Amino acid sequence: MQLDTQEKFSHLTITLHWLVGLTIIGLLAVGVYMTETETGSLYPIHKAFGFLIFFVVLARVGWRLKNGWPIPVSQYSKIEQVLAKVVHWVLIIGTLLMPVSGFLMSTMGGHGLDVFGLEVVARNVDPENPAKAMPINKSLAAFSHSVHHWLGEAMIVAVILHVVGALKHHLIDRDGTLRRMLGARV
Ligand code: HEM
Ligand code: HEM
Repeated sequence: MQLDTQEKFSHLTITLHWLVGLTIIGLLAVGVYMTETETGSLYPIHKAFGFLIFFVVLARVGWRLKNGWPIPVSQYSKIEQVLAKVVHWVLIIGTLLMPVSGFLMSTMGGHGLDVFGLEVVARNVDPENPAKAMPINKSLAAFSHSVHHWLGEAMIVAVILHVVGALKHHLIDRDGTLRRMLGARV
């Protein structure tokens, strides 16, 4: 498999970046929207996509470990390099821990998980009131809920900084950082 070079990224790096990146932006937006508007019909869709993307994230992290981090297209100030590194780490850790915390929050809360009709974890119903989910581990569900909420907020900030950074490279520095992630040789 062809690895990344400073001049050109491999197809796998580019495909995994955009597949994960755009799905995560969608999940963040739907997550906030459905929670704020209490749109219950979006929950199963959010949960199913969030669960499925986890396997692509694992492939992406494995590929990143094999490949190493991208070499910047040119030399930048120390502060810019540190900021980019911190943001990339928040994004990588977030993509791993958001699906895990979401999964634990739902399943430990007794709500179960269904992926487009396929039952992955069954609901834990209260025998006296079958319409009500019964928590399996209330404190783990509550802890995972907090992680999902706060890490979600941190990811939104990181994604904004990341996109602003990409646009700054493209429009102000006029270098090949964004074009390289779009498949160009720079
Ligand atoms: C429209 C949105 C986005 C744009 C324009 C964008 C752009 C870029 C660019 C140009 C790079 C290359 C940086 C370099 O060469 O050092 C990059 C790398 C990266 N991006 Fe994004 N990105 C977007 C969304 C996201 C999202 C939502 C995530 C995470 C959930 C993400 C995670 C990463 C990570 C971890 C890297 C480091 C390199 C790698 O692991 O492949 N990006 N992005
Ligand atoms: C990368 C994957 C994921 C991302 C980026 C994500 C993002 C979010 C965000 C930003 C929220 C709003 C949080 C708030 O404002 O309190 C949310 C809510 C939620 N997410 Fe996720 N999520 C992901 C995966 C999952 C998974 C796999 C599940 C379950 C299997 C899940 C279940 C939920 C539930 C049930 C809520 C609503 C919580 C509430 O009612 O307070 N999420 N998600």
